Amino acid sequence: MSYRIPLIKPYINDRVKELVSEVLDSGFLTEGPVTRRFEEAVASYTGVPHAIAFTSCTTGLETALRVARIGPGDEVIVPDYTYPATANAVKIAGAIPVIVDVNPDTLLIDYDKMEEAVSANTKAVIPVSLFGNPLDFDRLIKMKEHYGVLIIEDAACALGSSFKGRKTGGWSDMTVFSFHPRKFITTGEGGMVTTQNAQWAKAMHQYKHFGMGKVAGREEMVFQDTGSNYKMSNILAAVGLAQMEMVDDLLDERIKLAANYHQLLKGCKNIKIPETTKNGIHSYQSFAVLVPERDRVMKKMREEGIEVQIGTYALHQHPAFQQRGVRLRGQYPGSIRAWEETLVLPMYHSMTNAGQAEVVEKLTACVE
Ligand SMILES: Cc1ncc(COP(=O)(O)O)c(C=O)c1O
Repeated sequence: MSYRIPLIKPYINDRVKELVSEVLDSGFLTEGPVTRRFEEAVASYTGVPHAIAFTSCTTGLETALRVARIGPGDEVIVPDYTYPATANAVKIAGAIPVIVDVNPDTLLIDYDKMEEAVSANTKAVIPVSLFGNPLDFDRLIKMKEHYGVLIIEDAACALGSSFKGRKTGGWSDMTVFSFHPRKFITTGEGGMVTTQNAQWAKAMHQYKHFGMGKVAGREEMVFQDTGSNYKMSNILAAVGLAQMEMVDDLLDERIKLAANYHQLLKGCKNIKIPETTKNGIHSYQSFAVLVPERDRVMKKMREEGIEVQIGTYALHQHPAFQQRGVRLRGQYPGSIRAWEETLVLPMYHSMTNAGQAEVVEKLTACVE
């Protein structure tokens, strides 16, 4: 079904087509020099020395865990309110996801609950900068120093956001982005891991190239366990590279659109906007609100031609996370409320203020 006002429109301009055509004409279609340029663009934007492209955020998360040597018997703390990929990656790496509640105001992991869940087996936490809302690194770094755990950030939605002036991608031990079309920079499917750690960067590169590395000028299978094929083709990287040339403008535009939504929603009864982390800049991959009777409101909005969507999932409610090998911790009131009430509103490059006003007008009529 096509909507009068869609949820998102990927930003595909002439520059994207030009760079993709160059790759197609070159005949070098698999991962190669354009992938390197895309990686360099993301590394430089996030202020780190290393960025490694992947087929998705999910495969990037899995590889990040593998190069940190996290596997069977190890525990990794994740939030309950997130996309399943966050916890799936832990299971794929053979480790145990330990699932904790989120803060009902920010929808980000509850830092107190996260600390309570640390055990002798905890090797890492995967907090999620959900919808582009940056994490509180004052809190996370203190925790890292106190417990000696790694921070592997699921920043699928958060390219462009920042905390205390430093971009997401530059704070965590490893930060993993997604370039799925719902994200504001997209390669169709794709992901990227950023890190300051040269050894992990090298190991990630090897793992996604079948476990291969150069020894005395020859390719050998050097990764300890195995390897996979998570390479990003030059074609997809060209799409991402062209968008990275525009990233500041695209981000400014999203921030302006979000400010306009904030203004339009001011004083609207029964509509709550999640709080942005203090000292943070939100990149608004999704503009989310919480409304009562979300499913009824969502249906009505869609009938009006406006594409709206749920936020994401409460993992503990799904059979895949109710099995041995997953640790559920306590109750999840924050996550249940987020799951039941979150509604994501349309937001895309070139969305007009009139379009936003119509979304809010219809939304308030449905809610009140
Ligand atoms: C929080 C979060 N993590 C991970 C993913 C998975 O990303 P990908 O589709 O690139 O594997 C998503 C996708 O929407 C997400 O929202």
